[in-house]
Parts: sequence; C-alpha cells; structure tokens
Amino acid sequence: MPKAIGVLTSGGDTPGLNAAIRGLGKAALYEYGMDVIGFHDGFRGLMENRTTRLDSTALSGILSLGGTILGTSRDKPHRMPIGNKVQDMTDMILDNYQRHHLDALVCIGGGGTQKNALKLAEKGMNIITLPKTIDNDVVGTDVTFGFDTALGIATNAIDRLHTTAHSHHRIIVVEIMGHKVGWLALGAGLAGGADVILIPEIPYDVDIIAEAIMQRSRSGKSFSIVAVAEGAVSKKEIPEKAGEQKCPQSGTMKLAQELEKLTRLESRVTILGHLQRGGTPSARDRVLASQLGTSCARFIAEKQFGNMVALRGENTVAVPLEEVAGKRKYVPLDHEWLDAARKVGTCLGD
Ligand code: F6P
Repeated sequence: MPKAIGVLTSGGDTPGLNAAIRGLGKAALYEYGMDVIGFHDGFRGLMENRTTRLDSTALSGILSLGGTILGTSRDKPHRMPIGNKVQDMTDMILDNYQRHHLDALVCIGGGGTQKNALKLAEKGMNIITLPKTIDNDVVGTDVTFGFDTALGIATNAIDRLHTTAHSHHRIIVVEIMGHKVGWLALGAGLAGGADVILIPEIPYDVDIIAEAIMQRSRSGKSFSIVAVAEGAVSKKEIPEKAGEQKCPQSGTMKLAQELEKLTRLESRVTILGHLQRGGTPSARDRVLASQLGTSCARFIAEKQFGNMVALRGENTVAVPLEEVAGKRKYVPLDHEWLDAARKVGTCLGD
C-alpha cells in the first residue's frame, strides 16, 4: 500500500480545488492511512521544495472555499523561468519527489497540467491527475470541476445585463472566458437567453449578427444580449495557424463597435474576466470535486498510476494520460446545446 503522497494544483485556479484537495486528503488519511504533503504554487513549489503537511487540521473547513489553499502557477517542469532564463527543471522535481519518499504525486489541473503530468510519468514518477478548469475543455471526462460554478456566475451576469440592456435599448456584448473553446459561453448564453451566442468553434459573420439584431428591433425588441466567448473569431479573421489567437479583448470591442455602426443601436461591452473563476464553488462542483478526489485516493491505493481520474456518467474511471495529454475538447458542431440554441431562435453568427 502506498504510504506517502504529494499533491499540487497547477494552471488557473478554479472553484472546487479545495474540495478536491480535501476529498483526496481525507480519503488518503482516513481510509488508506497515507501521509499527504501539499506543494505550493504548482510545479514551481515542487521544484523549490516548498511543502505543507495536509493533516486533518489543514484539511478542515476548506470545502466551500474558492481558490486553492496550495496556491497555483502556470509554470511547466521542462520550461521553468529561472532568473532571466527558461530551464528544464525536471531532474530537480524528480529529486524532490524522491526526497519525500513519495509513492505518488497527484497533479490537479487543466489541459496543460495533463500534458506536464504525462512528461513526469514518463520520467518514472507515479502520477495521477484530476481534471479541473472552468473551460471544460479536458478530453476523457464528461465535465471538469469549476465549469458549473463559472456557468452559474456567467448566467447570473447575463440575467443582470438583460434588465439594463432592456431599459436603455442597447446591445450589450458580454465576453465570457473559455480559452479556445465555447462551452462556457454556449452554456451561459443558453441558460441566460442570450440573443446571440458566439463561440470559437463557429466563426461568425458580423453582418448576420447585425441582421438578427435588427430583426429583433423590427419586432419591437430594441435591445439584444450578445454572449461572446473570449476565443470567438470573425470569419474574416480566422487565424492562419492553430493557436494564433486574436487579442480577445480588442476583438470583443471591435465587434461591439461594428454592431453599433451596422444597427445604429448603442452598444456596451462587459468583460466578465476572472470574476468567473472567483469565490464559492457551486454545490455540483463540490460534489464532483469530492467524488474525483476521494476516488483518486482509491486509484492510488490500487496503484493505478499514469491516469487521470475522470467522470463518465455517474461514476469515476481511470483514463490513461496518453489519451488526454495534448488534446482539447471542443464543442462538437452537432452538440444538442447548439441545436437547442438555434431552435429557441438564438443567432450563432453563421
Ligand atoms: O483556463 C482558465 C482560464 O480562465 C481561461 O478561461 C482563460 O483564457 C485563462 O484561464 C486566463 O488565464 P490567466 O488567469 O492566466 O489570465
């Protein structure tokens, strides 16, 4: 039976991280009698050997806390900024893993973390990961924790923007996070009844959006809510190469200006930004994070290393990291959320 495990959180913070740390830690301590060490600030803390003991006191009272008690960073083991240089610190990370006689390391993170974790597994470390991100773009799992909370926040924002857009007869363009995918904008747009939803998977035509807004005006609705994913692109500006993203904020501002010009309706922009990642996790995210965290302790006890703990239906399964790393879960063009949006009359910009 593994005796000592380490855990770190890496990438952008996400509501539910503390619930996952608590689930993992309590199950590891009470069910399997393991010692649990936390590393601060992701892979950087592991490299710098900055640790904290996750005993029952440390794991208490954190379930409903946002952020991560361990801190996080976007540093990668093989490309760590050190002074003015970027260095491969994988060997130092391996040394620290061995120094603590760890039997396993749990890396909680999004797509980038899965990739980094696989590299460490290939160096011989016993790695297990958990999928978290508000973007919901990790393949191999039905959903990532953090998504539900962000969905609630963005939906609430759209609800609030409705009343002010309505009062002033304005277009409000609300920019929603999601990196290169549209799950959050589509989900919140659908839940909040946005009149237009723009996602990266469907490049938009601004003339079509303007026409949909003017059609609403002609039918007596002199305001519109446009929910735009930060990664959405105009058909005219599709990046030449994958990953060559437009500057999201300027893209959203430009869209609002173009719509104002074409429709002659006053436009405003609201960028929700990091509000969507902050604060208390939803009940659903706490349940999911607790389920993934506690299952992770079981997978460690069973020595199922080199896997991500994923949700499939109601249950957790171990998915090999090779099947997850370096991939991104886009909204499929035949997804029923898109179909539902079209059928309730939402313009998707195409
Ligand atoms: O991956 C989560 C996320 O919030 C994305 O939606 C967004 O593009 C990115 O992180 C923002 O990153 P940062 O917090 O480093 O600015």
